[in-house]
Amino acid sequence: MPRIDIPDLPVPRTALVTGGSSGIGRAVAARLAALGCRVAVGFNSRAEAAEEVMRGLDGDGHFALRIAIDDPASVAGAAAALRRRFGFLDALVNSGGATTPVPAGDLDALTDDIFDRTVGLNLRGPFAVVRAMRPLLEAGRSAAIVNVSSIAARTGIGSSLAYVAAKGGLDALTVALAKVLAPRIRVFSVSPAGVDTGFVPNRTREQLERTAERFPLAHVTEADDVARAVLACIVDLTSSTGIVVPVDEGRHL
Ligand SMILES: NC(=O)c1ccc[n+]([C@@H]2O[C@H](COP(=O)([O-])OP(=O)(O)OC[C@H]3O[C@@H](n4cnc5c(N)ncnc54)[C@H](OP(=O)(O)O)[C@@H]3O)[C@@H](O)[C@H]2O)c1
Repeated sequence: MPRIDIPDLPVPRTALVTGGSSGIGRAVAARLAALGCRVAVGFNSRAEAAEEVMRGLDGDGHFALRIAIDDPASVAGAAAALRRRFGFLDALVNSGGATTPVPAGDLDALTDDIFDRTVGLNLRGPFAVVRAMRPLLEAGRSAAIVNVSSIAARTGIGSSLAYVAAKGGLDALTVALAKVLAPRIRVFSVSPAGVDTGFVPNRTREQLERTAERFPLAHVTEADDVARAVLACIVDLTSSTGIVVPVDEGRHL
């Protein structure tokens, strides 16, 4: 029997992961490095944590990079550093973000300040990073952007109404950017349910497990589940763009 030829997959050579110092971003950085990719591990406040992630990655050529996605000067400085260190990007993973939990029914508690901060971080921030990194991605090979969104955008249930709206906006941005950045850059949203990280202050593993029990796959989504979906977008989904990939134990069903 003749062997069936399998084409080589376009393994990313360089990547920026915002929010790489922790949780989902950390897991994505580890998966990318295991493929042989050089990773810029983005952080906001925890340089030490980012350095530790960087030191734990397979291979070499990685570095920790401060990129506060809500600070234009920091984003511009990071783009300049990446131009010097890598010269191009094959992948950008927008995982950096934060939330301020506010009970959904308490509209008065969701102040303008919290709303603006939440949208600034989780919607304007990823856009600002895409805008700054576009030339580097256009210089890359089979480049992909993955925005870490949230299934909250679809279910309408999340840590605050502003967070739900920001992630809904991010999914819309994914679709719109996919149109304008084609054919050079593919754009995806990966949309997790509750993941066991420190993202939501005071949320416990037990709470996540109790919630997960009610959904089809009945297990808590781990950071590495999300990382593998991110890698699938970058490496395997070469003929897709502008899609939202739920990683949510079937919660959206
Ligand atoms: N965990 C969940 O249940 C869940 C579910 C759905 C979606 N998500 C999304 O997944 C992404 C990653 O969250 P995670 O679960 O990995 O949480 P995490 O462990 O708390 O990580 C958040 C990351 O974002 C960074 N960050 C915070 N503020 C930032 C800023 N102003 N600029 C740049 N980076 C900033 C943090 O950096 P420093 O530590 O250096 O400050 C950290 O690396 C977020 O976009 C979140 O919305 C999470």
